[in-house]
Amino acid sequence: MTDNIQKPKANSLWGGRFEGGVSDIMEKINASIDFDKILYRQDIRGSIEHCKMLVNTAIISAEDGEAIQKGLAQIEKEIEAGEFEFSAALEDIHMNVEARLTEIIGPAAGRLHTARSRNDQVATDFKLYVRDACDQADEALKALQIALIEKAEENADAIIPGFTHLQSAQPVTFGHHMLAYFEMFTRDRARFQDARRRLNECPLGAAALAGTSFPIDRHQTAEALGFDRPTANSMDTVSDRDFALEFMAAASISAVHISRLAEEMVTWSCAQFGFIEMSDSFTTGSSIMPQKRNPDAAELCRGKSGRIIGSLNSLLVTMKGLALTFSKDMQEDKEATFDAVETYSLIIAAMTGMVEDMKVNADNMRRATEVGFITATDLADWVVRVLGLPFREAHHITGSLVAMAEKKGCDLDGLTLTEMQDVEPKISEDVFSVLSVDKSVASRVSFGGTAPSEVLKQVAAAKERI
Ligand code: ARG
Repeated sequence: MTDNIQKPKANSLWGGRFEGGVSDIMEKINASIDFDKILYRQDIRGSIEHCKMLVNTAIISAEDGEAIQKGLAQIEKEIEAGEFEFSAALEDIHMNVEARLTEIIGPAAGRLHTARSRNDQVATDFKLYVRDACDQADEALKALQIALIEKAEENADAIIPGFTHLQSAQPVTFGHHMLAYFEMFTRDRARFQDARRRLNECPLGAAALAGTSFPIDRHQTAEALGFDRPTANSMDTVSDRDFALEFMAAASISAVHISRLAEEMVTWSCAQFGFIEMSDSFTTGSSIMPQKRNPDAAELCRGKSGRIIGSLNSLLVTMKGLALTFSKDMQEDKEATFDAVETYSLIIAAMTGMVEDMKVNADNMRRATEVGFITATDLADWVVRVLGLPFREAHHITGSLVAMAEKKGCDLDGLTLTEMQDVEPKISEDVFSVLSVDKSVASRVSFGGTAPSEVLKQVAAAKERI
């Protein structure tokens, strides 16, 4: 088992009480550097502010403080230039940076970790990362909302069948349908903003779990790193991963919205529907069937939403059995969160591009409203309004008329007045005024309704709201 040979050297950063080194397998299971190195900017920023605070409170000398800050700035440049050698033996980003700092400035580097632990350090780095992710999600959602508003405005009076159970229900406008998604993404933005507000308390200074006996100034570091205040309980601080869970919960819900829109685009773009055409930029062809234009990007938005939900589940399951405070299980928080952040940013960008590029075919949309007796509810409402019958009775009469039209092979306005009067003698010529889809949608002027006039009002309101 060459893999499991004990390494001779103990870790230089924590190896004081250890005689030997860890096995290769231990190194492999323990190291997080392969993925947490993307936190280098947050780590260095946190360290610089921690160092400034240590100088301000006279816990370390100004001279050491200066050397540490210079060294950290150099390390940031080295990493950015791709010149930094990351080492799995040094476990994670925190120890990689500290070890390099020791190489650059010597023993003074060892003073940086005064009144700090990797536990509050990693919580700080990770919060800074998730905070940025919340801000990026908000920006990306806003761009998608702008694209939706534009499509809604252009298609405020394009009529499509509105479905329930994927059965023709009532005619609606495509603009109204676009604004339905605008509302979903508005709620998503509020969820990210809310998560951001709650996470914005600084973990630095909680130390390992109990706080510290050094006279630190947690308010200084909190403020310098853009937090609203320091966290209130040191034990909660190093145990807490709610902020990552909340981000992923918000991202999961939003990904579900993206996935539902993607599913509709797949349907709308098929030849049988032909409601929209997707651009070359977001579709692929088939290697064997020359006629095809496959909506791959939409399908992948739908598919990748599952990964985000999976990442949320993965961290929930990781956390559920952990006693306070930090356990190494929590290192599993990062890959899941990083993947969720990257996947979410990719699918939202793809969806925005698809919405911007999509071409709407209003003629095909209208044609699809000509089947399925889609104005049956308008007919029933007319019977109530004009003939004064109770709705249940009107429903029954309309049902008989639908059956009659079905038998005759025509739509409701294909029935003659005499045929209609066979079912209900009081029906008059006026009934035909409500059987067209245009009249149907134009009549739905209730607040939030589908009438083109309402949609344009909602478009104006949406522009104000974002
Ligand atoms: N790499 C660790 C993580 O990702 C850092 C914290 C390690 N703390 C510790 N006590 N071993 O969570």
